[in-house]
Amino acid sequence: MKKKVGVLVSGRGSNLQALLDAAKDPAFPAEIALVISNIPDVFALERAAKAGVPTQVIPHKGFPSRETFDAAMDAALRDAGVDFVCLAGFMRLLTKSFVEGWQGRMINIHPSLLPSFKGLHTHERAIEAGVKLHGCSVHLVTPELDDGPLLVQAAVPVLATDTPDTLAARVLEQEHKAYPLALKLLAEGKVTVDGVRAVVDAPGGGALVNPQ
Ligand code: GRF
Repeated sequence: MKKKVGVLVSGRGSNLQALLDAAKDPAFPAEIALVISNIPDVFALERAAKAGVPTQVIPHKGFPSRETFDAAMDAALRDAGVDFVCLAGFMRLLTKSFVEGWQGRMINIHPSLLPSFKGLHTHERAIEAGVKLHGCSVHLVTPELDDGPLLVQAAVPVLATDTPDTLAARVLEQEHKAYPLALKLLAEGKVTVDGVRAVVDAPGGGALVNPQ
């Protein structure tokens, strides 16, 4: 039986698209059962509808607190019978109790090689820091922002001519490979957490080789 996945989005949803595309393969171990957006009318919702996936808009602005907003999302995910949650460009901080309720079953994609460049504007900061390799990371979500055991990382070179936009585009291409891979590994039960580390039972242990 395929595992059911809920995806939380706030924007354009290109990572959601990568997950939807991967899930079309009959051999993929997971199906996208629900997409939740905290913002109405974002393109991610159109992508889900086009793929025939149920969507819900749960506007954070309609709730008196983070706790009540998170509780509404939690209820929607549980009603849909979701096994795993993917954060895909979801731009809200989550409460500790929500995160703990999905411990080991919720993953996020972040556009840097963590633990470098947590937070926002990662591409700009990578260029400013002069790093030669940048990339993306998929990790299990813990209450600390952009923390948590790493499942998959992909590296790309930083070129002398890069702007934040050109670098972002190179990283995004890898995000679209890394996220479906991480979900596949998790849904197949190939991830074991050992303290702050995730041990991934796969060739390469969850790393994607630098493509260039
Ligand atoms: C991606 O860069 C992702 O790594 C970050 O937010 C962005 C979302 O893009 N968390 P998209 O909505 O998936 O296109």
